Amino acid sequence: MSKKSLLVVQSSILADNGQSNVLAQALIQRWQETHVDSEVKVRDLGAEPVAHFDAATLAALMSAEEERTPEQAAVLAQSSQLIAELQRADHLVIAAPMYNFAVPSQLKAWIDRVVANGITFKYTDQGPVGLLQNKPVTLLATRGGMYKDAGQDFQIPWLKQVLAFIGLTQVEVVYAEGLNMAQQREASLAAAQAQIAALDL
Ligand SMILES: Cc1cc2nc3c(=O)[nH]c(=O)nc-3n(C[C@H](O)[C@H](O)[C@H](O)COP(=O)(O)O)c2cc1C
Repeated sequence: MSKKSLLVVQSSILADNGQSNVLAQALIQRWQETHVDSEVKVRDLGAEPVAHFDAATLAALMSAEEERTPEQAAVLAQSSQLIAELQRADHLVIAAPMYNFAVPSQLKAWIDRVVANGITFKYTDQGPVGLLQNKPVTLLATRGGMYKDAGQDFQIPWLKQVLAFIGLTQVEVVYAEGLNMAQQREASLAAAQAQIAALDL
């Protein structure tokens, strides 16, 4: 049997000071306690951003294999690598700060690469169908303010929508809210850590 595999996608720009990254580390530790002989792949989009999906990316996708420039081949190889990491994972973690009510552009760029027609979704006469094998997903949502269930959250509902589009519907969310509110911060982080400690991984 192949080893269990955890994919952790980080998107804070603050490296070890990013609270979503701190929570991701706690989850990795928990995962490694539960799955002793397993693989963990950290895809840190803050440290190594994926280029935005642009005209050159589209041209690379539309090109015939034998006519691709080295640059086009490299763009497609990176997309394939990102998709392979996602396909291989038994459990996906996305550590996502809220930036301007939504996700960081680094995370949006990753999503734009892994949502791939014919690979992770396809259209049928009945509409779109996700092609990824379903697997548990944990979202680690950090915010400066309080937006859970407030109707102004375009981060978690959007992530759930786009993940469902590619076939991932088993989503659990750990919120750490009010991190820029002095009275709230420590209690929120402690509650998020406690939720991670109790996750059924
Ligand atoms: C560019 C930027 C935009 C932000 N926008 C929001 C926002 O819309 N709502 C909010 O609650 N916090 C916002 N914040 C605060 C972050 O969500 C908060 O600092 C969080 O801890 C960041 O996650 P991290 O610590 O994992 O990097 C923003 C921070 C930055 C840097």
